[in-house]
Amino acid sequence: MNEPSAPPRPPFPLARWALIALAVGGLAGAFAYVAGYLDPQRLTPARVVDQLQTNGGLHPGYRRNHAKGVCVIGRFDSSGAAAAYSRAAVFAAGASTPLVGRFALPGGNPYAPDGGVPIRSFALRLTQPDGQQWRTGMNNMPVFPVATPQAFFEQLRATAPDPATGKPDPAKQKAFFEAHPETAAFRAWIKDRKPSASYATDSYYGLNAFYFVAADGARHAVRWRVDPDNGAAAAPLGAQDTDALAAELERRLAQGPLRWKLWATLAATGDPVDDATQVWPAQREQIDAGTVIVERAQDQASGECRDINYDPMVLPDGILASADPLLPARSAAYAESYRRRTAEEARAGGRPPQEAAR
Ligand code: HEM
Repeated sequence: MNEPSAPPRPPFPLARWALIALAVGGLAGAFAYVAGYLDPQRLTPARVVDQLQTNGGLHPGYRRNHAKGVCVIGRFDSSGAAAAYSRAAVFAAGASTPLVGRFALPGGNPYAPDGGVPIRSFALRLTQPDGQQWRTGMNNMPVFPVATPQAFFEQLRATAPDPATGKPDPAKQKAFFEAHPETAAFRAWIKDRKPSASYATDSYYGLNAFYFVAADGARHAVRWRVDPDNGAAAAPLGAQDTDALAAELERRLAQGPLRWKLWATLAATGDPVDDATQVWPAQREQIDAGTVIVERAQDQASGECRDINYDPMVLPDGILASADPLLPARSAAYAESYRRRTAEEARAGGRPPQEAAR
């Protein structure tokens, strides 16, 4: 006897195809939205980095911001005083943690004159014995001009060189600052600030707030800075000083290590932890967390900092990011900058294109 044949399968209904298409299309749309393809006005890390390139010029192999700098090697010796607030191994009493750092000037131009602007930066990567790292990028200004990634982007656009003159358009800058009163404290700082003659005599501020997490899980909002202990500052640089800072650093290091005290400021209830334009009151408790010691410098084209992305969200257990919106924006933009410069390096056959450019 013949087996009864299976009943014919009904044709796949059109409605089901439509559903699948909708699901796949929806997913693709979601990805496109997140990537910013659907709304060309949406702020993405790529747009921020494109704008940095517009402002500073395209210099393959270099960081898209803080492009001109020098690597340094040293260590952080903990005082033990911050260990009550943070369980990070770096703060343990007696801990000495190796660091790879970088001093730099702001902007995307690796040939910028040292005397052109008064802003300088100091980035650190500390590596604990358990392999966890604390990366931080600090600037020598005590307050950041803007509080949000969007305002940072608008500021870049307002200060971009005008193609006709090669210089920023003063009218655009004025309009930006008028529309952004939160920039007032920064403007007051930069107005009278002269470009220092040494990386060694500046303080550097982490600016964004973070949390220290203690052994029992208690959290304290903090900001950190480093204060120099390297003698008095020399007369400031003039606009004609093009390449003074790296050589001056080498001269100092030939005499011995350089030192900065690392201070952690504890927030009081109500102090803003998501707004880098607002300074906390001066009477807040300060913890002397230890000493940053710089022992030698290296050329940034071949030194150990070259391949470090000083992403401020790379933190060891015991330090947490706050809700400051600048932090994730920095993290994403630094990654985009890192991807671009390392891809350029790879295309140049592993040879740093920045060396070729010299
Ligand atoms: C939304 C705001 C910001 C954006 C989009 C931004 C963007 C960038 C980018 C793209 C780089 C190059 C990264 C690399 O290729 O390694 C950079 C470097 C740097 N930024 Fe920012 N930045 C922002 C805010 C800040 C703030 C608030 C600080 C200070 C606390 C800061 C300090 C630094 C320092 C120190 C470096 C140089 C790091 C090094 O020496 O390699 N930035 N920034």
